Amino acid sequence: MSDAPLVLGLETSCDETGVGIVRGHTLLADAVASSVDEHARFGGVVPEVASRAHLEAMVPTVERACTQAGVRLQDLDAVAVTAGPGLAGSLLVGVAAAKALALALDVPLYGVNHLGAHVAVDVVEHGPLPEPTMALLVSGGHSNLLLVPDVTHDIRSLGATVDDAAGEAFDKVARVLGLPFPGGPHIDRVAREGDRVAIDFPRGLTSGRDLQRHRFDYSFSGLKTSVARWVHAREESGDPVPVADVAASFQEAVVDVLTRKAVAACREHDVHDLLIGGGVAANTRLRALAQERCDAAGIRMRVPRPGLCTDNGAMVAALGALMVTAGRPPSRLDLPADSSQPVEVVQV
Ligand code: KG4
Ligand code: ZN
Repeated sequence: MSDAPLVLGLETSCDETGVGIVRGHTLLADAVASSVDEHARFGGVVPEVASRAHLEAMVPTVERACTQAGVRLQDLDAVAVTAGPGLAGSLLVGVAAAKALALALDVPLYGVNHLGAHVAVDVVEHGPLPEPTMALLVSGGHSNLLLVPDVTHDIRSLGATVDDAAGEAFDKVARVLGLPFPGGPHIDRVAREGDRVAIDFPRGLTSGRDLQRHRFDYSFSGLKTSVARWVHAREESGDPVPVADVAASFQEAVVDVLTRKAVAACREHDVHDLLIGGGVAANTRLRALAQERCDAAGIRMRVPRPGLCTDNGAMVAALGALMVTAGRPPSRLDLPADSSQPVEVVQV
């Protein structure tokens, strides 16, 4: 156990300042400072506000993680950081901090891909990843279907959203329904009282030529517009809006397509393990329907606990530790932050 590398991971790609510490597959600390409350009144993340919040939170969050883990910075074997994709200014804060730490401590630095880290984090919860694993990543910033033969250096994109991310659609529909930001958890809660077949909302890219051309891609923008139109028509006619039914029917449209394509991808690529991550993985209906469809298809499903599904530093530390263990060479100290880093670039 003590031979396993002690790695600190920094995550600042969006509105969470995450600092995690792992030893091999063991999670020792997961400290997160979120600026989500500062963005709430804007109904979405404001990049400049997020960058400043990262600057203020960085040092205290690193200190909190070390205290939680009971380790000193001098004990670290490596530092890992999200190099992209994400908000440029926010990424820069994490990358600069990681470089400073690696230089001062004279340890190797690993600049890693945010999406790869979302996949890797499950090793601290459920042990080594089967190779290959299929990963469905759904959050406010991404909706990706990934074939992962080796999370340290071979991640292949099978599909992604062509417009809004799944979480973004939840947040926008919540706004239409007068629910607070971020809307996902509120829709999840309200939908429990609603009828998921009350309204037949569209499933994007699931039939005809759309499906042929976008086999494993997603689209939620048309769905979002359709919900908004439905609600406005209702308001104009003076009838009350059945919020719970709209929430449940909208949610069903999202999770139906997410799970249908994820299971189809597993079948088509002969993969028997599906990992679901990202903030939307906390959705109770997504988990239930995914479990049902995986069971029917003989696929094992893995979902990290909610705190590890949302953005955090532990996921970056986990991927860094896997890279150290696999003997992958470190990144250069002048590594750039890349806001649009392709998912295939697991390490910079
Ligand atoms: O991974 P995350 O914390 O941050 C990034 O966007 O990267 O994900 C946040 C997103 C938000 O859009 C939020 O509404 C959504 O995840 N979310 C949910 C639930 N919990 C969080 N969406 C649906 N159901 C939930 N229970
Ligand atoms: Zn994320």
